[in-house]
Amino acid sequence: MKKTPSKHTIAVHAGMKPDENHGIPNPPVYHVSTILRGSFAEERKKQFQYDYGRMGTPTTVALESSVAALYGADDAVAVPSGLASVTTGVMAVVRSGDNVLFPDSLYGSARRFAEVVLPAAGVTPLFYDPLATADELEAQMDDNTSLIYIETPGSQTFEVQDTRAIVDLARRKGCLTACDNTWGTPLYFDAVGHGIDVIIEAGTKYISGHSDVSIGFVAAVGETAKKVRAYAINMGLCVAPDDHYLALRGMRTLPLRLRQSEQNGLALARWIEQQPEIIGMRHPGLPSHPQHALWQRDFTGSCGLFSFMLDPAIPVAAVDAMADHMEFFGIGASWGGHESLIHEGHYKRTVTPEPEGHLVRIYAGLEDQADLLRDIEAGFERMRNHR
Ligand SMILES: Cc1ncc(COP(=O)(O)O)c(C=O)c1O
Repeated sequence: MKKTPSKHTIAVHAGMKPDENHGIPNPPVYHVSTILRGSFAEERKKQFQYDYGRMGTPTTVALESSVAALYGADDAVAVPSGLASVTTGVMAVVRSGDNVLFPDSLYGSARRFAEVVLPAAGVTPLFYDPLATADELEAQMDDNTSLIYIETPGSQTFEVQDTRAIVDLARRKGCLTACDNTWGTPLYFDAVGHGIDVIIEAGTKYISGHSDVSIGFVAAVGETAKKVRAYAINMGLCVAPDDHYLALRGMRTLPLRLRQSEQNGLALARWIEQQPEIIGMRHPGLPSHPQHALWQRDFTGSCGLFSFMLDPAIPVAAVDAMADHMEFFGIGASWGGHESLIHEGHYKRTVTPEPEGHLVRIYAGLEDQADLLRDIEAGFERMRNHR
């Protein structure tokens, strides 16, 4: 029997059809809205592989089928941003009268969608402690709970959720699960294998990987996959052709980039953790992380994104002195690109306590590890010397 290739090999080969394209390995970029037919009779048939630009082109199919293959999902729909993958994934499976459970550590823009858009559609968002036990979560559910949303690890504060317990609970209660898997990526968290129904991936980050594309994916299997596809089509969601191309090109090197980012992230986190100003390190791949065992159980790697908490007694100006003059770390949101970033953590919590201190998020990019370490060490020196 033919062995299923590893995800690394899938990332390199999926979606390639050189035989349909003069032997050229990468798909052409089709810029299209109109697709012409030869006659009214042909147009009347309405059975075309490519119907209209918005509905997809060979470039779209190459990308979407590759992401689906990477996830082991039946389908993956490309949408215009990571946030659009959150909103599409949720809206495709809920209806008015439902309630949806979201972790309190939810990514900020997703939280605003939950708090503002869902109620207007008759759907009630409820927030839960990302570390709640299955019993505690069950106590927040009722007959109208149709979806439990997971984001593991949580944005900014990096709580690792007990996905297995949540999926078991959801199945027992007859509701679906959705998971923002951007941190895990298809390589480090097997969302389909873990039984997640709606898989959300901000492709803006690691999949496209070069800080120049805004894209998201919603992957799923079976009936849920059909619902997601139908929702995206009915809502007119589509992505610009060049972005399809760039995302697919980025995906080819995902395994290599992810590994470099992971190694840089671990080295930085290990050094930062030793510094006396640190009152909390939030890297799931380090033994000091409170849910490290869960991470070991469920993930096969860590990406380069983590945060740490600086002592609240440190003046803001000293923290700024550290962050403002980095040589290689840019100051900015987003992550998953080639370049390292430092970002001041912003978050809102309503059912769990807001942690105290200065939260700083690091994204370790693809630079040389020693250069990044030197840069961060110099930053800590500036913080200490600040008067
Ligand atoms: C965990 C997570 N999900 C979703 C998104 C949204 O992605 P985008 O910026 O492409 O809308 C982000 C962006 O930072 C994110 O960190």
